[in-house]
Order: sequence, then structure tokens, then C-alpha cells
Amino acid sequence: MSITIKQLIKWKQQGREIVVLTAWDYPIAEILDEAGVDLILVGDSLATVALGHQTTLPVTLDQMIHHAAAVCRGVKQALVVCDLPFLSYQESAAQALHSAGRILKETNAKAIKLEGGYPAIAETVAKLTTAGIPVMGHVGLTPQSVHRLGYKQQGNTDLARSRIMNEAIALAQAGAFAIILEHIPHDLAAEITAKLAIPTIGIGAGVDCDGQVLVTADLLGLTKKQPPFAKTYTNLRPIVTQAVENYAADVRSRQFPKLD
Ligand code: KIV
Repeated sequence: MSITIKQLIKWKQQGREIVVLTAWDYPIAEILDEAGVDLILVGDSLATVALGHQTTLPVTLDQMIHHAAAVCRGVKQALVVCDLPFLSYQESAAQALHSAGRILKETNAKAIKLEGGYPAIAETVAKLTTAGIPVMGHVGLTPQSVHRLGYKQQGNTDLARSRIMNEAIALAQAGAFAIILEHIPHDLAAEITAKLAIPTIGIGAGVDCDGQVLVTADLLGLTKKQPPFAKTYTNLRPIVTQAVENYAADVRSRQFPKLD
């Protein structure tokens, strides 16, 4: 049975941690799903981990849809959520509805995620949820605002803390079903998690969130550089390099293919 949004809320109430990872193609999605990941995010980190960009800004809605459709083909259980990329929703609620509608119609994703909070984004979230589109919020370090905020921890002053708390509350009141908390002080993430009835999913936000997310390319050691809060569970870069070098040596020495 596929995992539903209702299930995520129930898990928060039961104190059962929610496991989230990102995916950008069919084989990765199939592996994550078979390993029992609860929620698979087609994040706009696709721009950096799969398309080679420096930031998430260049990825387009068409590219997100192309990759989300491939991810969905590999998933049987997990809830698939797809990011709305930079400038596909910030202009107006109508633009957001159009973009989110395309994702739901053209892929098998069940929900969208967008960055930012109060007031404009919360109003957009209300319009989307009213139209029947489930929305995940994202506050704290929001990579689409890198040129304004940088890639550093957010919420380090009283003012910034209360702004992030108010954004999270506004998103929940607008109907978001979950919120990503990225790179904020752990006690602030704990406060937000205790305050909201919807699940919080942390990345660099401490252990008190209702779930955790990592960029899968970081977890697998495919990226050259990882953020300070990421954990590399295996280091695939040298393993892949070794396999490719072995293959190249076999081809050059006519060891591959072998005649049977
Ligand atoms: O795009 C992404 O991968 C994300 C996660 C870091 C939460 O938004």
C-alpha cells in the first residue's frame, strides 16, 4: 500500500520518525523505495547533483517534470513529492497553480514542495491546498534565495528566529501537510516541531524533528563536496572510478570481452 499524507500525520502523533531522501532518476528511486524510504523528494537539488549547475536556480519546470516522471516510474510505496523550481511559483498564486497542476498531471507525484513563508507564499499555499494540491513547505536555509541569504545557517538572532517560527505557523495554517526545516538552530527546530500539528522534516536542524531528509547523492558520496550537516554513508566516487579504470584496462589489454 502506498504511503499517504494522513499516514505521515499519524506517524508524528505516534512519534515514529519519517525517513525522507531525494531522488532524480528511475534506478535511484527504485532502490530507495525497495529499501523502505517513506517519502521521496524530487528536489530541485537535481540542478546541482544531476545537471551540474552551481545553484538550484537554473533548473526548469520541464526538467523537474521529466525527472519526477522517471522517479515515479520506480516507486511503488513511498510518497513522491516534487519541488516547484525557482520562479515557477513566486510570481502569483495563478502561476503556482499552473506549475503545480502540471507536476500532478504529467508525473505521478502526489504533492509539491515550495520554499518560503509569510505572507505571499502562505497565501499561495492556501490557494494550492484549496485546489486539492498537497503542499510541503520549506523554511530556514532556502537554497532558491542563495543570493540573498547565502548557504549559511539561518535563525541566529531573536528576530530571525521569530520570523522562521511565524513562517512555519503560517504555512501550517495555510494547509501545508509537512515542512522542511533546513539548517536552523536545533532548539528552534524543536520548538517549531512541538508547536505544529504537521510533521517537520529536518536537514541540519537536529534530532528533534519528526523526520530527516538527506540529498541522496551526499549520502552515497557521489558529490565532491557535502554540506556540514550531511552524512556520507558510503563513498561511491572511488568505487565507481575503480570499476571504470578496471574496465578501461581490460578493454585496452583485450581482456574484455572474453571469448567463450
Ligand atoms: O532540493 C532538495 O534536495 C531539497 C532538500 C535539501 C530538502 O530541498
